[in-house]
Amino acid sequence: MNTHTPAGLPANDPGALLAAVLRANATTLNPRLRQVMDALVRHVHAFALEVDLTPAELDLGLDFLVRIGQASGPHKNEGILLADILGLATLVQLRGAREALAQGGTEPALVGPFWRAKQPVRASGDSIAAPDTPGAALHVRGRVCSLDGTPLAGARVETWQASPKGLYENQDPAQQDMNLRGVFLTDAQGRFDFHSVRPAGYPVPVDGPCGELLAAQGRGVMRPAHLHFIVVASGHKVLATQFFDIEDPHAHEDVVFGAVGSLLRRFEPDGRGGFGLDLDLRLEPGEPHLPHCPLP
Ligand code: BEZ
Ligand code: FE
Repeated sequence: MNTHTPAGLPANDPGALLAAVLRANATTLNPRLRQVMDALVRHVHAFALEVDLTPAELDLGLDFLVRIGQASGPHKNEGILLADILGLATLVQLRGAREALAQGGTEPALVGPFWRAKQPVRASGDSIAAPDTPGAALHVRGRVCSLDGTPLAGARVETWQASPKGLYENQDPAQQDMNLRGVFLTDAQGRFDFHSVRPAGYPVPVDGPCGELLAAQGRGVMRPAHLHFIVVASGHKVLATQFFDIEDPHAHEDVVFGAVGSLLRRFEPDGRGGFGLDLDLRLEPGEPHLPHCPLP
């Protein structure tokens, strides 16, 4: 009986197969690529063995990946959504910030698929909501500083949020272009403020393969109401984060696991039917690297 493949590998020996793939990887010149691919191969092999993956299931999984790509383009990014629903985006964000977090840095949160390039720069105190936007008023006041408390003047604070109907402007023909989005620059004390409306929670897009997966798993699809921020200050790492409405019914069941710890906030009533949100954003010294912007 032939128990050897043409390459000389003993048949039905997963350990020998893994060793052969790792030997093939050894020609990789870039050391980080080698480390990442070796670990990926080890984990993927261990996964297939643990679940006893069948050829039909492998086909299904590969087809899923192909459809993730086919469902993505300049106006939709199903790949980001996949990393988000697996908890991978949140894991990587929190791990990357672990030293800053130990020193009181602001907790990060995933960027998500709705950040747009060229959001409008607005004057301090302006509203990001067009006058016809319904909803309760929200006044956001914040301060950007370094880990040691030094205020960061001239920091760029990007923000975006869904409407009180739970839709981003690019999903909603009723909103004008770039509604509920803006960029603000901090003053000499590191302060910024802007007006808006209280956002609502919303379901993540479920019209693609990620939606099919969530349905097959019987998982919830909601994100609690939140505002996104990306803060860029020279000499500091970029902070991408979100602040969540602690009163949202889904505050503790975010489908993408971003609503963690100190990011859950009470939107304080202002006594006139509106709300206020005060933010202290603490950035870690380092090189600023902007995350990939998913939308034009
Ligand atoms: C968002 O917060 O914009 C978002 C994040 C992950 C998936 C979908 C939306
Ligand atoms: Fe969002």
